[in-house]
Amino acid sequence: MRLTTRIVVLTLLSVTAVGGGSAPVRARHGMVLSEDQIASQVGVDILRNGGTAIDAAIATAFVLAVTFPSAGNIGGGGFLVYRPASDASVAYDFREVAPPGSSAEMFLRDGHYDFDRHHNSYLSVGVPGTVRGLHLAWKEHGKLPWRQLVDPAVKLARDGFPVSSQLAQSLRSVLHDMQVYPVSVAQFSRNGTPYEPLEILKQPDLGRTLQRIAVQGPSGFYEGETAALIERDMKAHGGLVTGAALKAYEAKKRTPLRGGYRGYEITSMPPSSSGGTALIEMLNMLEGYDLTSSGYGSATAVHLTVEAMRRAFADRARYLGDPDFNSNMPIDRLISKPYGAQLRRTIATNRASISSPTTFSWPAESAETTQISVVDSQRNAVSLTYTLEYSYGSRSVVPGAGFLLNNEMGDFNAAPGLTTAESLIGSDPNLAAPRKRMLSSMTPTILTKNGKLFMVTGSPGGRTIINTVLLTILNVVDFGMNAQEAVDAGRFHHQWLPDRIQYERLSLSPDTQSLLRSKGHELRETASQGAAEVIVVPGDDVLEGGVDRRRTGGGAGVY
Ligand code: DON
Repeated sequence: MRLTTRIVVLTLLSVTAVGGGSAPVRARHGMVLSEDQIASQVGVDILRNGGTAIDAAIATAFVLAVTFPSAGNIGGGGFLVYRPASDASVAYDFREVAPPGSSAEMFLRDGHYDFDRHHNSYLSVGVPGTVRGLHLAWKEHGKLPWRQLVDPAVKLARDGFPVSSQLAQSLRSVLHDMQVYPVSVAQFSRNGTPYEPLEILKQPDLGRTLQRIAVQGPSGFYEGETAALIERDMKAHGGLVTGAALKAYEAKKRTPLRGGYRGYEITSMPPSSSGGTALIEMLNMLEGYDLTSSGYGSATAVHLTVEAMRRAFADRARYLGDPDFNSNMPIDRLISKPYGAQLRRTIATNRASISSPTTFSWPAESAETTQISVVDSQRNAVSLTYTLEYSYGSRSVVPGAGFLLNNEMGDFNAAPGLTTAESLIGSDPNLAAPRKRMLSSMTPTILTKNGKLFMVTGSPGGRTIINTVLLTILNVVDFGMNAQEAVDAGRFHHQWLPDRIQYERLSLSPDTQSLLRSKGHELRETASQGAAEVIVVPGDDVLEGGVDRRRTGGGAGVY
């Protein structure tokens, strides 16, 4: 069955590649984009068998937990924005929450901030949200039986799948960091020897956990054997996640944020992600400029975009956190057109503003999350971003349960008042507390025009996510790119502090760079930014997909 799947995929790709490197993948009826080909193909099989975009996204997400273990997960959390063709959009927030016993000072040791406590310890594990979140979305909008959506992942975990060259490389590179977790080493290597491409990776414990989820629903994860295995692991290593906290975990249905940009309606994620708020705030500022005339990649367009980024990221740090713990967040104001205009007036067209390091800054953050974008034949659309936080999360597999735990607690601020030039942040809205969601940057987003689906976008990449999503939108709306061009185009990022533009190699020409420097910007080249999966709907009978090949070969399922 797997062999057949791969042959079908190769056939599709050879057909869709015609037209040049930047031609989008095309489909008529439905499309599933993710970072893994097996997962996307399972998603599209679900569409073919009568599933909705929600069904396909769920099945794809479960398969990614098996075939793309660096970010695909059942031990993490995320966000899903659903835009049905003929109804109001909804958002699902299945972000992890802090376990009992968490506190604003929990990452201090002897009064000093301890990075490893924050990011690399059992204290960095939040109560996972993925299974409850996917189930809630399915209960409200799924069509096929739940079990049918989880079964493909069960089979792939139990029977194994051929390791791709990208996965082999990824597993090889994480092996060293996993040495302290023998159960992780056992699951992801052959007795300590890295897997070679095309070897079969079987994960029997994960298969049994997924089977419990398939048969029992969320209780198969949050109660009974799986919950007991998590609790035992936590108790043995000083972690805080308890059986009671697992049982009590709730995914939340939220009203998506709405914005408008040059006649397109924007639907994106509200807090506990900062993504939608910052995205709409930036678009409102940028709407006042003629970016098209300035031109893609011009110093003017980059400068104005960076200034919008700077301002939205300052507000992100100042105001945003879990809405259930911060009743006064001024979201409506932040995403309003008048506020965008007010901020725009503070932007000088020929001079970089200066970010003050005395107020806020941001902790270092890794880049390992993943994006699923789905459109079905009815033009229902899903943008789903979920994560373990670091690549392979805490790197720790739950013994007997076969899945990796997140280290999402690292997204809470370090400690009260601890804001440093070295990029820690200590503002109140995002300090840890029991049951609180840590602030995210994930930005699953859907665009419509005159009420019709136009674009689905989203990306991994920590705080760069928001800017990557912004750039995919500007690339399509302002610079007329197709979906693949919009994904391939070089990216840049500014997050207020540190006060510099981070840019992908080859994304800014030398003369653009010198013009930006002459305006006062500091520039730093970076490794690649994000892994966006973009679907554009240019007409009634065509879907165009842009698959990001920065981190993996990417996966497009089409029909
Ligand atoms: O929620 C967040 O914003 C981060 N934990 C996401 C981490 C991430 O995107 C890493 N991605 N590649």
